[in-house]
Amino acid sequence: MHLPPLASALPVVLLSHRGPVTFTRDDDGDRTAGRGAGGLVTALTGLAGHLDHAVWVCVGASGEDAAVAREAAGSLVHLALDPEPRVLAHGDVPEGRTLLLRLVEVPPEVHDPFYGVISNPLLWFVQHRLHDLARTPSLGREDHRAFEQGYVVANQLAADAVVEQVEKAGGRAVVLLHDYHFYLVADLVRQRCPDALISHFVHIPWPGPDAWHVLPPDLRQRLLTGLLGADVVAFHTRADARAFVLCAQELLGLPVDLASMTVQTAGRRVRVRAYPISIDVPALEAVAHSDASDEHLVDLDHQVGEGSLVLRVDRTDPSKNIVRGFQAFDLMLSEHPELHGRVVFLALLQPSRQDVPEYASYLTEIGASATAVNAHHGTGAWQPVDLRFAHDMGLATAAYRRCDVLVVNAVADGMNLVAKEAVVLSERDMVLALSEATGAHDELGRFAVTLHPFDVAQQADALYEALTMPAQLRRDRREHAAWVVHRNDARRWLSAQLEDLAELAVTGDEASDAGHGE
Ligand code: G6P
Repeated sequence: MHLPPLASALPVVLLSHRGPVTFTRDDDGDRTAGRGAGGLVTALTGLAGHLDHAVWVCVGASGEDAAVAREAAGSLVHLALDPEPRVLAHGDVPEGRTLLLRLVEVPPEVHDPFYGVISNPLLWFVQHRLHDLARTPSLGREDHRAFEQGYVVANQLAADAVVEQVEKAGGRAVVLLHDYHFYLVADLVRQRCPDALISHFVHIPWPGPDAWHVLPPDLRQRLLTGLLGADVVAFHTRADARAFVLCAQELLGLPVDLASMTVQTAGRRVRVRAYPISIDVPALEAVAHSDASDEHLVDLDHQVGEGSLVLRVDRTDPSKNIVRGFQAFDLMLSEHPELHGRVVFLALLQPSRQDVPEYASYLTEIGASATAVNAHHGTGAWQPVDLRFAHDMGLATAAYRRCDVLVVNAVADGMNLVAKEAVVLSERDMVLALSEATGAHDELGRFAVTLHPFDVAQQADALYEALTMPAQLRRDRREHAAWVVHRNDARRWLSAQLEDLAELAVTGDEASDAGHGE
């Protein structure tokens, strides 16, 4: 589908840890490019190709990505995005969308502590409140070193690359920074590019001030100050935006205004906003209409027959609450023997961050809890849980089309795009069983069966309610939910941000605070 370019009068520089492509070597030793992983990257890739003059800065950390970063040595890599990403040679004129990529080489001795000690175990765990506070975290010298020699250095390297791109654009550009890997970058860029318009989007939950006391004062203050280098700090929900404003007030002692959602710092007024991210509906539908998706659908129909399919699609992240989900399914089967042989729980899980011990042990727990359900209830002819470790959009889209219930019971989740994908693709008026602790619940909770992530008994009741919901109610709710997602798609998410930044560019600090605070 041809869409007009998104409106940005200024050149755009994007930064995220993962990029739109990841490079590998095939069996013949030739370099190949594939799509980058994760919801953030999927959403941004769909959009970045529609932005004129966009440069996407990302990290080339290991393997072939690092080799490409080294060879490029700071110059831009020209990518064609359709139908699959590939590097364009000089003079190639591709059809479809293109993108300029700047890969930042971050050496392993910096990347390992940056990603494997600070970003994922520490910041991710603080923000999703995953610590077991009687025991973890227990910050030692190594963690402090990891912050200084890993997180800080990686942020400086990323900031250097962003600054270089902004300077090449004449010093005035829109800078869109993303996620918890780069909380120090906005301030570093502002110091060197005072005319840039900087936004930092936090894609994961932002807890209130108490949760941040887990981090030493110096560390949490530096992270907050870094973020406040932006003109706009953005989140998926108003609750997260509000929590950030309260942190600025309580942890930094800054004057804030909760009515206009602004923080006063160093003579500037930083806007704090909420823009709920969404999915690229046409791109998703294209995958769902592929032969691969159709073939998987035939297999699933054959497997489930006249029965019901409960589905979850997740990374194997402790925040996704996969073990409690299996426990709830187990309880429901114990209390409703009439469902035996008539329901399958398909879990499509993508192993994630296996270099972090907590993630490796969680993967083991997932396997054990799925095995326990099958041991309790399974028969020769029926295995209630079908656990598959896979990252296959053909299979995932087929499962979305066929499922009767989609389970999202996350402990905490910035948005959760799986919920949005499923309501759009469902061909059976699936019921969304959705955790109240997801950003998606703000938009879709009215059309879902709400799950309380720590209450296994409630989840069992909710699953039963979802599986037995009358057809007309399922249809009404699913159609309304799909309408909400179509209306507020990924394109609208980005254009709302660009419009607000454009307004800021014109009116400066005196801008009205009416903004798009929703
Ligand atoms: C979440 C984060 C992204 C991250 C993705 C995958 O969606 O918000 O920033 O890229 O998880 O995690 P990974 O560690 O594999 O990049």
